[in-house]
Order: sequence, then structure tokens, then C-alpha cells
Amino acid sequence: MNRTFAPAAAPLRGTVHVPGDKSLSHRAVLFSAMAEGVTRLVGVLDSADVRSTIAAVSALGAHVDLAEQADGSLAGSVQGWGEFGPHAPGAPLDCGNSGTTARLLLGVLAGWPIEVTLRGDESLSRRPMGRVTDPLSRMGATFQAAENTTLPITVRGSDSLSAIEYRSPVASAQVKSAVLLAGLRAHGRTTVVEPALSRDHTERLLPAFGVGVDARPEELTASVAGPAVPMAPDEIAVPRDPSSAAFMVVAGLLVVGSEVVLPGVSLNETRTGFLRVLGRMGARIEVVPWPEAGSERVGELIALHTPTISATTVTADEVPSLIDEIPVLALAATAAHGQTRFEGIAELKVKESDRLTAIVDGLSALGADVESDGETLVVRGPAALGGAVLESLGDHRLAMTWAVAGLAAQQPVTVEGFEAVNVSYPRFAEDLAALQMPQA
Ligand code: S3P
Repeated sequence: MNRTFAPAAAPLRGTVHVPGDKSLSHRAVLFSAMAEGVTRLVGVLDSADVRSTIAAVSALGAHVDLAEQADGSLAGSVQGWGEFGPHAPGAPLDCGNSGTTARLLLGVLAGWPIEVTLRGDESLSRRPMGRVTDPLSRMGATFQAAENTTLPITVRGSDSLSAIEYRSPVASAQVKSAVLLAGLRAHGRTTVVEPALSRDHTERLLPAFGVGVDARPEELTASVAGPAVPMAPDEIAVPRDPSSAAFMVVAGLLVVGSEVVLPGVSLNETRTGFLRVLGRMGARIEVVPWPEAGSERVGELIALHTPTISATTVTADEVPSLIDEIPVLALAATAAHGQTRFEGIAELKVKESDRLTAIVDGLSALGADVESDGETLVVRGPAALGGAVLESLGDHRLAMTWAVAGLAAQQPVTVEGFEAVNVSYPRFAEDLAALQMPQA
């Protein structure tokens, strides 16, 4: 589906309730499925990716009773398989476009003596899975993959996994989570050491399920002691997604006269690198923390149009905290005075698309001065953006970045394959349009 976004004719003004956090929604559903008893969930993101996790855990024997709420979120209960474990489904599990579903499930299934095949769409079938099958093989699970280490993959788990200390070559929360989840079924202490701190939702949420996690962010390690039997907590409230909020924040910064209010967003520091970077660039963003409740910090963001922003350097150690926001940050950088550098971003090549190439191609087509050597991205601004027809490449974050570009450009931007937004933010276009409605 093509959708055209014209330059904003008026300021963006109003409040947007962005949907529930994708990373936490996957984990809330998955950990509830693993738990003993019934967990109640509210604020769960209703999107294609989370639906993939829900369908997978249902096929594995969890009872998921989540219903759509008036605000578009999912709420209800999940009864887990607990100590009996998942049962072998009759057919391959389709992970759709979702890397989190596939990689975390491989970790969960590694500890049970059943055989399960995971498959995914074209994009997911290209993404590297060796980063999880390597450590999980060392723990004792076995894998069969048609093509090297990509989906479809058949996992045969083991009920006598060995605990390991794993030094991950990539800063990836999906890898860290997969190994820790397998560690819950191993005997002994399983530790993951990362090259830089990735998002820590698994470490924060497992304790709500009665599982002790020794998280030492300053040492870049997280450990669990197995075997651990997760118990169901009463209720988990999923905060709103900072990665989805980032598109609204950048739209507010770039469109003259805007003021965009985003309540209830997760302020987890392993996710809010984009706020720190935009702050350094001089963007006018207020962050109002709410009183603490649950495992995540939550608050309100207020993004104000900022006529002049300046360039900055995003260093490699910051990248995991803003990995999903780089496309829209690169768009923001086209408005900044000077040369913005994003260092150590080769990971972008193995996301839902080759985002690094897509950013360079898309922003160049809009008239920006952008280049990359495959490791670093350089954006020189400010540039007046023109119109273009840009492909989403089936990548939700590209689709939303190009939509925001259309609002900030001097000519319309048409996004081909706009339906990719269904992966994380199905109501994105409607929420953006509501900000353009005259205020009552
Ligand atoms: C995610 C981790 C990140 C992120 C993805 C969601 C997660 O991927 O890009 O959108 O929920 O753990 P990596 O772990 O591969 O960096």
C-alpha cells in the first residue's frame, strides 16, 4: 500500500498515546506462557510482531486470552505451561517478521526435549540466527537449519542443559535474553557478558516472575541460576514504546510551531539514548518522570519545535540504547547544523532490512548530504528536503521515518509498502493525522 505524506500545513499539536512497548510486550507474553499459573496483562501492544509471539506460545500450549481494548492495546490473561513445559506443535511456528519472537523462543525451547521448527517471512529468513544457536548449542540444544544459520530452523531442546558463561560478540538483547532464558532450565549459573549494554527488559521483568537475576550493568553482565521455575505475577502493565514515541518526537521537533505530548512512555535508560542525543543537539524536549511503579521507569515526553539544532557524534557504546531510532535520528540530523556522525552501526545491516543502505539511499533521494562506509554514517546539514517516492522495504521503522520526512520536507513523500507499520505501530498514520487536526 502506498501512502503520501505532504509537508505539514500547520503545527503538530496535541497528545498521542503511542502503543505499548514492543520489546516488553513480547517478554510479558512469553514469560507468562512459561510461568506457573495465570498472569494478567494490560497495555500489551497489538501489532503483527506481538501477534506472532501470541500465536507461537498458544501453539506451544499456553492459554492466551487477550482482547482488544478501546485504546487499541491488548489486555487479559495468559495461563502458562509451567513445570509441564511446552508441547510440540503440529506445524512449524511462524515468527512472521519478528526477530525477537524467533530468537527468544529459541532460548525458551532449548531447555525442553521437544522438536520445534521456527520459520519467518522473507526478511526474518535472511537475518542471522547463529548468534543465538551458537551459545544454545554449547548449552546442549541441537539445531538444524536449511541454509547455514537462518530460518527455517528446527530446534531440539534438552532437559539437561549446561550452564555457561557466554561472551557475546554483539551487544544484542535478543542474544542475551535467549541465553538467560535457556539458563533458567540449566543447572548452575549462566552468565552473559556483552560488549556494550543492550536493553535490559529481560533482567527487569524476570524478577516479577519470581526469578532472581544478578544484573551488573556496570560490568556488562547478567546472570541467572538454574533450574528456576517462573511463577506467575498478578499483573504486568506494559508502558508505551519509546521507539514509537521517537517518530512523534522528531516530527514535533521538525515541524514549525509544534508541541507534541506523549504520556506513559517507558523511560528505561537502555532505550532512551535518542533523547540524550537529541538533547545534545539542542532539541527542546521535556521529560517528566512519573512516580515509580512496576519494573520500568515511565513518564511523559513533550517535544517542541526547535528552529535550530546542531550536529553531534553518536559513539559506538551509545548505539545499543538507540539502535532502533537511528533511521529517524538520521532524518533529524539532516536539519542539524554541521556533521552528525553515527559510529559503530554495522548492526543496522541485519535489521528488518539493510537499514544502513536504506537510510543513505532514502535521505539522498530527499536531497540530504549523507554517506556511509558500512560502519559509520555521516549526515551533513542543514539540508532542505525535497519530495521523493521511498520504499519501506517491508521495514516498519523505515516506513515511519519516511512519513515524518514527508511532513518536514518541502514536497510530498510517498511511502511504498506503508503497511509495514503494522509490525509495531498499526495506528501510526491516524495518530500523526490527529496531530494535524485543529485543536478544539
Ligand atoms: C530487541 C532488541 C534489539 C532491537 C529489536 C528488539 C528486543 O535487537 O533492535 O527491535 O526486544 O530484545 P538486537 O537484540 O538484535 O540488537
